[in-house]
Amino acid sequence: MKKACFITFEGPDGSGKTTVSTYVVKALIDLGYDVIHTREPGGVDIAEQIRHVILDPKNTKMDVKTEVLLYAASRRQHLVEKILPALALNKIVICDRFVDSSLAYQGVARGVGFDEVYTVNRFAIDDHLPDLTVYLDLSAQTGLDRIAQRQYLDRLDQEKISFHEKVVEGYQEVLRHFKQRIVVIDANQEIQTVQKEALQAVLKKVKAYV
Ligand code: TMP
Repeated sequence: MKKACFITFEGPDGSGKTTVSTYVVKALIDLGYDVIHTREPGGVDIAEQIRHVILDPKNTKMDVKTEVLLYAASRRQHLVEKILPALALNKIVICDRFVDSSLAYQGVARGVGFDEVYTVNRFAIDDHLPDLTVYLDLSAQTGLDRIAQRQYLDRLDQEKISFHEKVVEGYQEVLRHFKQRIVVIDANQEIQTVQKEALQAVLKKVKAYV
C-alpha cells in the first residue's frame, strides 16, 4: 500500500508557512511518521546555490524569463536529488513552496503567463505534483506588515505592494485550477489555530495513504 505522500505549503510572503510546516513536521514525527522537511527554492546544495542567485537583492537586472527558468532548474534538481528518493523510501515529504509559487509569482505577478510557466515547469517536474497543498490565505498587506520587522529582505520581498497583491491574485488562479488538491486555511487566525487546522488537513491525507 502506498505510504509516501508529498505535501506542500504555499502562501504569500509573511503567511507563516515555515512556522506552520515546522509545527506539522514535528507533530508527525512525534506520532511516529517518517518525514522529511524541505523548501524551495533550495533544499539541496545546487538548488540552494541557485536560490542565492535568484534572491540576491543586487540582481536587479534579472530578466523575468531567466527568473522562471532558474526557479524551474532549482526545482528539478531538488526533485530528483531529494524529493523523489525520499518518496521512493515511503517517507512523507513536506516542502515549503513548489510549482504553485512559480505559477502565482512568475506566471501571474510577473506577467509571464500561467500556462507558459506551467509548461516550463511540467518539463522540470514531469508529472510529480503534490498529493496535498496547504494554502495559507492572507492579504498581501498583512503579509508585508509581518515581514517588515525582518533584518534581511530578499529581492522578491523588496518588491512593491502591487506585486504582492498580484501574487495573491495569482494564488486565486492556482486555487481555481487545482481545487482538488488544495486546502485553504485562514492565516489571519491565531498561529496555534492555523497550526492545528494545518495538522488536521495533513493527517487526513496521510491516513488515507497508509
Ligand atoms: P521563501 O521566502 O518562502 O523562502 O521564498 C523565497 C521567495 O521566492 C519568495 O518571495 C517567493 C519566491 N518564489 C517565487 O517567486 N517562485 C517560486 O517558484 C518559488 C519557489 C519561490
